[in-house]
Amino acid sequence: MKTELSDKFFAHYQQQATATYFTPGRVNLIGEHIDYNGGLVMPCAVTLGTWLVVAPNQDQVIRFKSLNFSEEQSFPLASSYTKTGSEWFNYPLGVFNEILKTKKITTGLDLLFYGNIPVASGLSSSASIEVITAYALNEQFDLGYSRQEIALLAQKVENEFIGVNCGIMDQFAVTFGEKNKAIVLNCDTLKYRLVDCKPGDYVLAIINTNKPRKLSESKYNERVAECQTALAQLNQEITLNNLCELTADKFALHSHLITDPVILKRATHVITENDRVTLAAKALSEDNFEDFGRLMYASHQSLKDLYEVSGEELDTVVEFCAQYPHVVGARMTGAGFGGCAIAFLAKGYEDDFVAKITPYYEEKVGYAPEVYFSDIGNGASTI
Ligand code: GLA
Repeated sequence: MKTELSDKFFAHYQQQATATYFTPGRVNLIGEHIDYNGGLVMPCAVTLGTWLVVAPNQDQVIRFKSLNFSEEQSFPLASSYTKTGSEWFNYPLGVFNEILKTKKITTGLDLLFYGNIPVASGLSSSASIEVITAYALNEQFDLGYSRQEIALLAQKVENEFIGVNCGIMDQFAVTFGEKNKAIVLNCDTLKYRLVDCKPGDYVLAIINTNKPRKLSESKYNERVAECQTALAQLNQEITLNNLCELTADKFALHSHLITDPVILKRATHVITENDRVTLAAKALSEDNFEDFGRLMYASHQSLKDLYEVSGEELDTVVEFCAQYPHVVGARMTGAGFGGCAIAFLAKGYEDDFVAKITPYYEEKVGYAPEVYFSDIGNGASTI
C-alpha cells in the first residue's frame, strides 16, 4: 500500500513523498450514545482506514488531493480558514484551522489521502481523516501534541468547524486503538484501559446496511438535547454533571423527576447501557463471548426501543443474526439510523453468513447489505 501510494503521490505532485501515515476507522463494541453522557464506552480500531502521504513544498501552499473524491483544493498558507461547502477537504482544512489557533505552520505541504472506510457508514471515516491530519501535522512540524490532545483537537474540529455535536469516542478510538484490544474509556475523565479482545473462535463481522444516512445529524443532536433535558430535571433534586454518574439504583430513586415519558426512555437507556459496558468488560476479560454476545443483543434492544436510533435496516440485520446459529452476539454500532451493525461470528462460517444474510436482508429492505470481516487493529501511526 505504501509504495503504491508513494507512486500516486509522485505522479500527482511531481515530487517524492517524505512520510506516510495511517489512521483506522472504529467500531464500538458496546456503550452506545454514552460518550456525551460522560460514561463508559468500548470501541476498538478496525483495519479499514485512511492513509495520508505528504511532502513539504516551497510554494507556501497547502494542497489537498484524495484518491476517493474528484474535488481537490489548494489554500495559501494563512492564519485561519473557514469551511467552504461540504466537500471532503473541509475535514483536514478544519484541522489546519484549529492548529493555527495556537501554533505556527510556516512551510507549505502537499497532501494525498486515500481511504477504504465506506463513507457515512458509521465507521468513523470523518474522525479518521481528522485524526490522521492532526497526527501528520504534529509529526511534520514537531508540534508537541500528545495523543489525547490530538483526539480532543479532532473532536473540536468536528464540533466547531464541521458542526456535528459528537462526543469523544470516535476520535479517541482511532487515535488510541491497539491490535486485538478493546478500549474501555471513561468519557468523563478520559481514563482508559485496554482489554484483550482476541475473539479466538469468532471473527468480527461488520454489516453495512447501505442505508443512506440523511437524518442522522439532526436526530443525533436531538438525542443529545433530550439527555440534557433529563439531566436538568434530575438536577432539581441531586447534583450531577452528567447522566452516567447515576447508578441504576439511584436513578430509580429520582427518575420520577423526569416527567416526559420519551425523555425517561432516553435516560433509562443511558443508565442501563452504561452498566452493560462494565459487565461486557468483565465478560471480555474472561474471554466469555457468550455473555458478551447477550449484552450486545440487550444493547441493541435498548437502542431500538428506548433510544429509538435503530430502524428497519439495522433491526433486520440483528434479527437475522439472532436466529443464525453461528453468531454469538450482534448490535448496531455508532450513531444508528442506518450505518453498520457488528456481530461476532464463529470462524469458518463467513461465506455461509454472507450467502444467507444477503437474500434475507434484500427481501425485507429492498437492496443488498455489505459484509466486511475485520481484525482489531492499531490506532494512528507512521508507516
Ligand atoms: C457517533 C458519535 C460518537 C458517539 C456515537 C454514539 O459515532 O460521533 O461521539 O456519540 O455516535 O455512541
